[in-house]
Amino acid sequence: MDVNVALEKRRAYRSLTNVEISDEIVEKLGKAAQLMPSCFNKQPWRFVFVKDDPNLNRLKEEALNEGNRWAKESSMIIAVFTKKDLDCVIKDREYYMFDTGMAVSAILLRATELDLVAHPIAGYSPEKVKEILEIPDEYTVITLLIIGKKNAEIPDYFDDWKRKAESTRPERLKLKEFVFTNKFRS
Ligand SMILES: Cc1cc2nc3c(=O)[nH]c(=O)nc-3n(C[C@H](O)[C@H](O)[C@H](O)COP(=O)(O)O)c2cc1C
Repeated sequence: MDVNVALEKRRAYRSLTNVEISDEIVEKLGKAAQLMPSCFNKQPWRFVFVKDDPNLNRLKEEALNEGNRWAKESSMIIAVFTKKDLDCVIKDREYYMFDTGMAVSAILLRATELDLVAHPIAGYSPEKVKEILEIPDEYTVITLLIIGKKNAEIPDYFDDWKRKAESTRPERLKLKEFVFTNKFRS
């Protein structure tokens, strides 16, 4: 798939239906992250691909915030975590989150190409995620990627905002608000 097509197609859909997640899909998504750049090639990203019970069910029941109830229909949850000493620190520039974010971007686009929804969320309990997945405390669980297949049928409990977001991409800043040429203008 052309990169631009994947960029346009990717959406953080919430209406999901079940899809079989093979080991091959896990490998494809892992390889997408593997190819991304990082400071001094430090590769600070770590992922747990949770696709089987009991841990998938435990994450859904114990770790998600109420507002992310929709994520209970997911077929896999990828926990993304990192820590500062896995990457470059150059004065005030700490690259571990930045590099991990780039790896996540690759996973989002590759999942889109594989016709999967990959939706990052911040609404969860990191303490619960660490407990369930046995991630040591010194790591930061920066996001969960909610993986599933887009469901054309929208659940009854979705409010107007969630309903609208299924068909219309939430508005973006205009280019002139964040793209500057030759010099920054605030
Ligand atoms: C770091 C991060 C945290 C997010 N947290 C949530 C969340 O907890 N729940 C949710 O429904 N969507 C969450 N989202 C999805 C955003 O709301 C969504 O990406 C944004 O509205 C733009 O929509 P689009 O991705 O479909 O273009 C999150 C996205 C990011 C990148």
